[in-house]
Amino acid sequence: MQDPHEIAAEAVAALAVIEDAALLEEVKARYLGKTGSITDLMKQLGKLDASERPVAGARINEAKQQVEAALTARREAIAASALARKLAAEALDVSLPGRGAGVGGLHPVTRTLARITELFHSIGFDVADGPEIETDHYNFTALNIPANHPARAMHDTFYVGTSDVLRTHTSPMQVRYLETHAAPAKVVVPGRVYRCDSDMTHTPMFHQVEGLWVDEDVTFAGLKGVLIEFMRAFFEQDELRARFRPSFFPFTEPSAEMDIGCVACGGSGCRVCSHTGWLEVLGCGMVHPNVLTPLGVDTEKHVGFAFGLGVERLAMLRYGVNDLRLFFENDLRFLAQFR
Ligand code: PHE
Repeated sequence: MQDPHEIAAEAVAALAVIEDAALLEEVKARYLGKTGSITDLMKQLGKLDASERPVAGARINEAKQQVEAALTARREAIAASALARKLAAEALDVSLPGRGAGVGGLHPVTRTLARITELFHSIGFDVADGPEIETDHYNFTALNIPANHPARAMHDTFYVGTSDVLRTHTSPMQVRYLETHAAPAKVVVPGRVYRCDSDMTHTPMFHQVEGLWVDEDVTFAGLKGVLIEFMRAFFEQDELRARFRPSFFPFTEPSAEMDIGCVACGGSGCRVCSHTGWLEVLGCGMVHPNVLTPLGVDTEKHVGFAFGLGVERLAMLRYGVNDLRLFFENDLRFLAQFR
């Protein structure tokens, strides 16, 4: 019979260099499996003389235990190095600096809206807002634009059902505000408006700020003064020139459009002002009695002026943006410049 300790030493040496779990099992089978060399020794025990069996058996058992101990140690070592490799591969360097959260900013149109309302608020105008889905009544009829009036065609209206519209201007708030606030009333209304129109200089949604001042001694001269001072403050140009051209709106009489001297060229003529030196910035006028009377305003006592200005237009002029569509594409390279 071969010496069990010799076999065990050979097995321990073979196990010591194994790195692979499957190979480990093969080696185990070679020594301890059904036909393994240590198992073979066990089978040979019966052939020995009875007096020799206890000693020989004990030696085989010792050898078997040595191989089993080596197996267990190797199996643990392989598992430990596999775990170490996995941890190394998945390692995170927690000391690396973070990417950091980008700092957001207000949209240029939002900033312009805030600037406009703050300027008017600072001279005593209340700030209100109203619904973007309006009834035909508030958007048109109550503003002295009866059904079938040609002025409705000017508005490129989006209809919502049969009697509602997406408001085409903020002027419906003149009516809504006077329904809930008795004269004297002094308010600006910033908000979104919608027109079915889309090209280089028009977007289907844009922003307006409506202004309304109803009181006993409101005059057209007062309207001009408020708007000229507003434009000078808005553009930070004390000498900014302005002019008022006669115009027509069904809800004001008289009506006017206000032009300011071109803020890009100072009036000498450039592409921004189409070489006229002037920029049209808003519509305005004295509120028509046909609007005020149904609201219970005594037009013998109270007079009102109103104006409506386009916010994107003022934003473009103030920031020197030459394409309206940039405001709505939400390209961060554009927006980040206004932080
Ligand atoms: N609502 C008019 C428009 O959108 C502007 C306006 C407002 C004109 C108030 C006069 C008075 O064109």
